[in-house]
Amino acid sequence: MGPGPVNADPRVQRAMSADLLGQYDPAMTDYMNEVMELYRQIFVTKNHWTFLIDGTSRSAIEAALVSMVEKGDKVLVPVFGRFGHLLTEISERVGATVIPIHKDWGEIFTEEEIASALDQHKPSILAICQGDTSTTMNQPLDYVGRLCRERGVISYVDATASLVGNPLPVDEYQIDICTVGLQKCLGGPSGSAPVTMTDEVADRIKRRWHVEKGIEPEGFKPGAGSRIQSNYFDLAMIMAYWSPDRLNHHTEATSMLYCARECARCVIEEGLQNCLDRHSLASKAMVAGLKALGLDLYGNQDFKMTNVTGVYIPEGVISEAVRHDMLHDFGVEIGTSFGPLHGKIWRIGAMGYNARKDAILRTLSSLTSVLKMHGVKLPDEDAALAALEVYRSA
Ligand SMILES: Cc1ncc(COP(=O)(O)O)c(C=O)c1O
Repeated sequence: MGPGPVNADPRVQRAMSADLLGQYDPAMTDYMNEVMELYRQIFVTKNHWTFLIDGTSRSAIEAALVSMVEKGDKVLVPVFGRFGHLLTEISERVGATVIPIHKDWGEIFTEEEIASALDQHKPSILAICQGDTSTTMNQPLDYVGRLCRERGVISYVDATASLVGNPLPVDEYQIDICTVGLQKCLGGPSGSAPVTMTDEVADRIKRRWHVEKGIEPEGFKPGAGSRIQSNYFDLAMIMAYWSPDRLNHHTEATSMLYCARECARCVIEEGLQNCLDRHSLASKAMVAGLKALGLDLYGNQDFKMTNVTGVYIPEGVISEAVRHDMLHDFGVEIGTSFGPLHGKIWRIGAMGYNARKDAILRTLSSLTSVLKMHGVKLPDEDAALAALEVYRSA
């Protein structure tokens, strides 16, 4: 019950144990096509170029940025937590001129702030997180995509920690390219990173089309753009691999593809809206329980991610001792935090397979017992009961 990774859905674990297929087996290429279609539904997009990067979520972030950014491109990064710093760092490493703009942790950027930064800095790309797990804040994106389109700026979104737990209809929000991971609300393990992009972004990347020697197709001509700085994350080559040409690139991580496929199938069988509602209800129940314990919540609650809740560590308590007892006596892991929030807040998740009533009630009752054991004076109210009431009244 931390900020992710979380327990994978047992269906996903079973899918991962299926027998391996070679990447040119027709069953495997059918699965690749099916995965593209499934993730169009997950991202709520018609984007043809919707596929998987083999690696954890940051592999897709690197792939997106290294494939889009040419030396000197200006990238604007609104930073409201640790993962905004990560987008800044990766953009710098791939040779962009990076303009980070900052917000106090626990807050989000307003429409006016994004518009004025775009007008002032005139970037070619804006890179932003949706849910920055380090602060538990969920940046509204409905205006971000639109503001970028109005100015001819590409919008890139890292939705690793938020997709399917917080609404992100990619086409409706006019997001140009978006990447995620499996280990949060999608209820899988880390190791596969879905990506979706518009045809315009795909064309920009294909301008940089260079093929490694020995596998060039007949009549091959390199693109006019500069060669992408990474072979593994060269999205032009990876798109050729996911196209009917099946131009050889890396050896597809078969088990992770089964796993990504099953994560998407679970969400689609549940219904995307039902999945979003389940996360939102879990968030309300967790908040009610933590408030019943008399604990203070962290950050601007109007913009909290549904799937993770930041809570101040009560005065006088040794944070790591509480986390230790939660884990070793009750089998429940809650999250610590990074940088300026380290030692100040815990991050308690309820996402993916764990956004369930029983998991939330168990977390709250074990937290109650452990806090009491550590001498914290708690109000008379019952935290698990407060959460249960949220479920009952829903
Ligand atoms: C918002 C966000 N972006 C990126 C990452 C990096 O993901 P990974 O560890 O899967 O590479 C995380 C991980 O927690 C995250 O929460």
